[in-house]
Amino acid sequence: MTDQYAVIGNPVEHSLSPEIHAEFARVTGQDLAYGRILAPRDGFRQAVQAFRESGGKGLNVTLPFKHEAWDLAAVRSGFALAAGAVNTLLFQGDRIAGHNTDGIGLVRDLTRNLRVAVRGKRVLLMGAGGASYGVMEPLLREQPQTLVVANRTLEKAIALVGHFEKLQQFALQGISARPYDALAGAQFDILINATSAGLDNAMPPIPGNVFASGALAYDMVYARRTPFLDFAQRQGARVSDGLGMLVEQAAESFFIWRGVYPETRSAMAMLRRRMGRSAPAAEGVNRDS
Ligand code: ATR
Repeated sequence: MTDQYAVIGNPVEHSLSPEIHAEFARVTGQDLAYGRILAPRDGFRQAVQAFRESGGKGLNVTLPFKHEAWDLAAVRSGFALAAGAVNTLLFQGDRIAGHNTDGIGLVRDLTRNLRVAVRGKRVLLMGAGGASYGVMEPLLREQPQTLVVANRTLEKAIALVGHFEKLQQFALQGISARPYDALAGAQFDILINATSAGLDNAMPPIPGNVFASGALAYDMVYARRTPFLDFAQRQGARVSDGLGMLVEQAAESFFIWRGVYPETRSAMAMLRRRMGRSAPAAEGVNRDS
């Protein structure tokens, strides 16, 4: 029987995951079907249970259920533990394993697709919500020279940095929380926008001179030209949206389920083509697999 997977969320109809996984299945020759499950806001567990009972093998989890998925998982990967959220569930007999592939997706997009090493670099992460929690640990593992977390509400950035300082086994020099107006005079090689500002056509209030020569500006929002990327380009930075992160996090989920790592270029090309035709319908943000 064809193995069943799905993305579960509310809302979920916008999710590109079914198209991405269908393409992965095609390129790897894996026999699987991947659908969408719209769960009631108070009915996540029941919906997961029903899917398992019908023979489902695994799920991607999107808003607003990533914390409930964390609670549901009997075992959690290191990245899921650190992030406090789960975006991938794997059903192993009676046991549910929880993973978080968002941060790996970001790091793979940076290092493999965009060919930008994080090691030794000065990194600015904007935002201190769930998206930032999801990517912190994988970013830290790449050993940047500095990692500054900037947020409008400073206390949230301080709490985030404190959370990861407590977790870390390795020394964390150069990690700090700052308000945006304290960035004047600093320069960064990689600037990652993990805020939702772009969805409101806004951008974090960063000064113009924070882009080091050859800097990469990365926005986790995909399929939408954000004010942050426009601003960064005007400052001479190289820019990227978050579509590659979306595809790479999906590839990691696929690997967790199937033990096969799909080649991601054809899925990327497919989505770019599709967005060229219908950008508004396809836009989103890397919080919702
Ligand atoms: P998520 O879990 O998806 O990251 P969230 O928890 O609502 O969503 O966090 C959204 C992030 O975007 C926050 O860091 C938020 O800043 P505040 O904590 O100060 O609210 C940030 N954000 C949203 N709109 C913004 C804007 N216009 N300028 C700067 N930061 C913004």
